[in-house]
Amino acid sequence: GLRKKEVNVLCLGLDNSGKTTIINQLKPANTQAQEIVPTIGFSIEKFKSSSLSFTVFDMSGQSRYRSLWEHYYKESHAIIFVIDSSDKLRMVVTKEELDTFLNHEDIRGKRIPVLFFANKMDLQDAMSSVKVSQMLCLENIKDKPWHICASNAVRGEGLQEGLDWLQGTMS
Ligand code: GTP
Ligand code: MG
Repeated sequence: GLRKKEVNVLCLGLDNSGKTTIINQLKPANTQAQEIVPTIGFSIEKFKSSSLSFTVFDMSGQSRYRSLWEHYYKESHAIIFVIDSSDKLRMVVTKEELDTFLNHEDIRGKRIPVLFFANKMDLQDAMSSVKVSQMLCLENIKDKPWHICASNAVRGEGLQEGLDWLQGTMS
């Protein structure tokens, strides 16, 4: 058949937001990890959609590893940015990290798509994706296509909608 277009995706977000859980759900069932542990440094994962072949750099969100993120900006074709919608206390830290990312010289002005997952929507005190979007001032992003989906990574809900958007904007 036709070769799928190969794309590099960088997965960012604070520690414990659910990045690895999301990526794990997108992988073929027979390669999924049974147990998710906090990422050390980063991990490289692969999966396919109907038209794209993804190589994902699943970064650690721990503060001591966040300085690694910027080394992968140049070679990335898309970003998945994951937010723990129930973590109100750290939403300002999330916004700081997002703004630092958006203003980076390798990212600013580049039309690279950014898919946001407002994750952990199953938790009692989770904010809606609209609220998360307001808190992070996503409306101010004018130089790139972006999209936000509410998700529950444990059950795999909302992930396909996000992936469909990403595929649509990249094919
Ligand atoms: P780092 O690798 O440390 O940056 O964290 P991470 O963003 O990769 O988070 P990880 O996927 O390891 O998930 C952290 C915890 O959140 C795990 O216990 C997951 O089971 C849990 N989790 C992830 N997604 C969800 C979700 O949608 N709902 C709920 N309730 N828990 C979730
Ligand atoms: Mg992880």
